[in-house]
This record gives sequence, structure tokens and C-alpha cells, in this order.
Amino acid sequence: ESADVLILGAGPAGLTLANLLHAAGIDCVVLERADRAHVQTRARAGFLAANTVRVLERHGLADGLHRRGRPHGTCEFRTEDGSFRLDYGALGRHEQHTVYPQQDLVTDLLTHYLDAGGRIHFETEARTVQDAAGPRPTVAVQEADGRPDRWRARYVAGCDGRHGAARRSLPTGTLRHHRDHGVTWLGLLAEAPPSLDAVGYALHPHGFAGHMARTADITRYYLQYERGIPADAWSEERIWAELDLRMYTAEHGPLHHGRILQRSVIDLESDVIEPLRHGSLLLAGDAASLPAPAAAKGANLAVLEAELLAEALIDELAHHDSRALDRYSRRCLEHIWRAQEFAHWMIQLLHAPAGPDEGSYFHEAMRRSRIESLRTSRTHQDWFAENYVGI
Ligand code: APR
Repeated sequence: ESADVLILGAGPAGLTLANLLHAAGIDCVVLERADRAHVQTRARAGFLAANTVRVLERHGLADGLHRRGRPHGTCEFRTEDGSFRLDYGALGRHEQHTVYPQQDLVTDLLTHYLDAGGRIHFETEARTVQDAAGPRPTVAVQEADGRPDRWRARYVAGCDGRHGAARRSLPTGTLRHHRDHGVTWLGLLAEAPPSLDAVGYALHPHGFAGHMARTADITRYYLQYERGIPADAWSEERIWAELDLRMYTAEHGPLHHGRILQRSVIDLESDVIEPLRHGSLLLAGDAASLPAPAAAKGANLAVLEAELLAEALIDELAHHDSRALDRYSRRCLEHIWRAQEFAHWMIQLLHAPAGPDEGSYFHEAMRRSRIESLRTSRTHQDWFAENYVGI
């Protein structure tokens, strides 16, 4: 079996790319390891940047998010010294987020692609990409029934995340710049309405706590957590007690409690692959770079890269112009490093230092000063807003 472009993975990166290529008449197929139900229900990020919405609008993929997504432009910092709000939608470039659960976006992208006649194979796991250095790469796959198969292509788009086949198939010598931030979060999905009309970032001596709206009935919370402890170690009572404490509810009012629907342990790590192209294999999304989750950049980078890759592949396959493909890696990496830098800045803002600087008065005082600057300096606030929503 064959296609001009084989797309590995049906996340935001792979499905955006598939829609754009298919609309341009490029012969492509998506191979996805999981089944359709799994892909459509996996809860992940939920904050879409203004640029992401513009990309999806340009290609007629934004109907769902316009109907059900909600604009969002405020965040609130809570510390021992009090709280303050930043209306980031009215600062910097005056851009807002659209709150729209990632699984809904994925469902929209998938429905649009299938309605347009796009090809996708679920429960088909890519094992390795072979001969990527040359013009006829192949992908060894395992089909739903366990049968091995081989696909031929002219280009392979690795959109299969950080543990996918594309990364495994890169030649030795490809750089993976990795950073472990030494911080762990317990990520929670609570069956409870949001308790603030803002993203909440709480800095407490017990550690960071975060509050992020998802829908009218579901709220995402994060608790800084000890590394190596299983996700089910804390009871729901303990989780809510800790959230109440760290969110300073005694001063700012109670949180809506509810059943914890999902929980997972997230070690804050970042990495970047350089370069993002190896011959006919091109990486996008989490396969290209994992931004630490502190700044909600993952899905937004994935959509931005997918559009750049689609344009480059269309130029190459429809117009025999390879210039954009040659520039693809460099252009993406500029955006990726910008997002990485801001995520790193956010991590240092939200957490007491880990590692050799743990407990350092000097670093804690600098962190307090950074918060104070953000509270009082309009210039600093504009910079924050531009980077927080920007991509
Ligand atoms: N073969 C086929 N499919 C695979 C394989 C494989 N070997 N390995 C993984 N996949 C699939 C996964 O099942 C998943 O559906 O690839 C898809 C990758 O999707 P995402 O992880 O959503 O990654 P991406 O599209 O790059 O989007 C990045 O997702 O990591 C989250 O929230 C993060 O917003 C970020 C976004």
C-alpha cells in the first residue's frame, strides 16, 4: 500500500496536516495506533492561542470552536502576599485564548477530514520508518489484527508524539535537547464548575496549585506533587484540602468541590529535536518538541507546525518547489525555542527552585521580586501577555 504522504498519528498535528493536504488534493493517509473512541476522548490541553484559531479559520476548521469554545483573557496570581489579576487579553497584542477541550478539537478535525473523504487507519501502529534518507521511505506497521504490513510513501510526517515511531527512527547523531525541570504535578480533572473566572496560579509554601476552566461542569486542577509518588496516593479529601489551602480559599472564597474524574502524574520535562527533518521524514507536534505543560504551548505549536508543513509539502508535491521544505525545520525551531523559553520562565515563576538551589533564600527572593515586577510593571505585563497567548 502507498500514499504520497504518510501521516503517523491522529493528534492535533497529524489531523491538521491531513485536512490541509487532503483539501489541496495531495494523496495522504493517516496511520493511528489507537482506536477512534480513544482518540476522541483523551483529555489533554484546552487553551487555544489566537494564532491557532486563525490557522483553523483559514482552512474552514474552526466552526466547532466558534460555537462551543469560550474566549478567555484573564489570569490571577495568588501568593502569601495577596493576589492580583492580569487581563492579558487587553495587554500586549490584545489577544485572547479560546478555551476548547483538545478532544473536541481532535473530534472536529477528524469529522471534517472523514466527511471530505480523507483516509485514516485506526489501530495501526507504526513500528519504524525505513530508508528515510532517500526518496522512497517505507513504514513498517502492525495492523489491528496483529498482521505486519509495509507502507510506501514519498514523505513521512511524524506526528506520533514523543514516544512514537518517527523519533525512534531518527539516525544516530540527531540531537535531542532534553531538560528535566525537577518538578512534578498531579494533573486532575474535577467534576466541578470552575471556581474563578480566570486561570488561577497559586504560589504556596506547600507548592504550586493551578486552576483552569474546561467546560461549565469540568475544571482542570494541578497540584505540585512529590516525584515518584503514584497518582492514586492521595485521597480525594486530601486533594481538596490541599487545593483549598494552596489556593488560599480562606481569603479568596471557596472552591467548588466535586468528584475527581481523572488524575495523572506529570513530570515537568521539555525537549527539542534538531533538526526536524531527516530526508523524507519530517517531525511536527510533540514528536518535534515537548514543551513543558506550564505554558499551554503543546497543541498550539502542533497546529502552527502542521500548517507550515502542509504548505511546504504542497509546494513540493504540487509545484515541484522544495524551498519551503528546506526551510521547514529552521522556521519551526524559531517558534519552538521561543515557546520553550517562555515555558521555562513560567516554571521558575511558579515553583520554588529544585535541585542544588532548593531552599535557597536568594532564589526565593528573586522569585518574589519577579512576581512583584509582574504585578506592578505595565511593560512586564505586556511582555507576559504577548508570550502567554502568542506563539
Ligand atoms: N503509530 C501510530 N500512531 C501513534 C504511534 C505509532 N507508533 N505512537 C503514537 N501514536 C499516536 C497517538 O495515539 C496519538 O493519537 O499519535 C498521536 C499523537 O498525538 P498527540 O500526542 O496528541 O500529539 P500532537 O498531535 O503532536 O499534539 C500535541 O498533544 O501532547 C498533547 O497536549 C499536548 O497539546 C499537545 C498536543
